[in-house]
Amino acid sequence: MKTLVVYSSLTGNTKMVAQAIAEELDADIKSVAENPSADGYDLVAAGFWVDKGSADDQSLKYLPTLKNAKVALFATLGADPKSEHAAKCLEKAAGLLDGSNQIVGRFICQGKIDPNLIERMNKMFAGKTGNPHAPSKERDERHKKASTHPDAQDLADAKAAFARIKEALAARG
Ligand SMILES: Cc1cc2nc3c(=O)[nH]c(=O)nc-3n(C[C@H](O)[C@H](O)[C@H](O)COP(=O)(O)O)c2cc1C
Repeated sequence: MKTLVVYSSLTGNTKMVAQAIAEELDADIKSVAENPSADGYDLVAAGFWVDKGSADDQSLKYLPTLKNAKVALFATLGADPKSEHAAKCLEKAAGLLDGSNQIVGRFICQGKIDPNLIERMNKMFAGKTGNPHAPSKERDERHKKASTHPDAQDLADAKAAFARIKEALAARG
């Protein structure tokens, strides 16, 4: 099964997941910045990082260009990957795909947040009590939890998820 892994990554988290998936599926791997064509691929694994509740800007542009492909989406985000926020981000990305594609899988895991962004948020949201981005013990805990991801378990989970996707597609013939 000829597979393309295409990813966008600002700080490297999504790239790590992309590399794990590419290794598992023996796939070609390209950055979204190369604007790779999906022609001739049986499966496209398209990965983005979550930016303000949606796919990052480069993926916002790239995902709508895919046509007539079997697409499995993957992503990393700072929040809990089991949260409603995470599900909504995947849903939004799925909504960017042209109707001629088939979505054959989804995977999302946590990714550490760039310390520079935390610093910027500290300044931007200082004193804005009640805002989830305002400095607080809870927010620091969330960031601390994210700081070790993607970890070995996330990469193993990504590989397992994509192995299952490949098997399901192969079984369909
Ligand atoms: C500008 C910016 C906006 C972000 N917005 C969100 C967000 O809305 N929700 C979230 O859960 N994480 C958010 N994050 C965290 C990233 O999604 C997370 O760190 C991701 O793993 C980064 O992936 P990358 O290392 O591949 O760039 C944001 C990060 C940045 C830099």
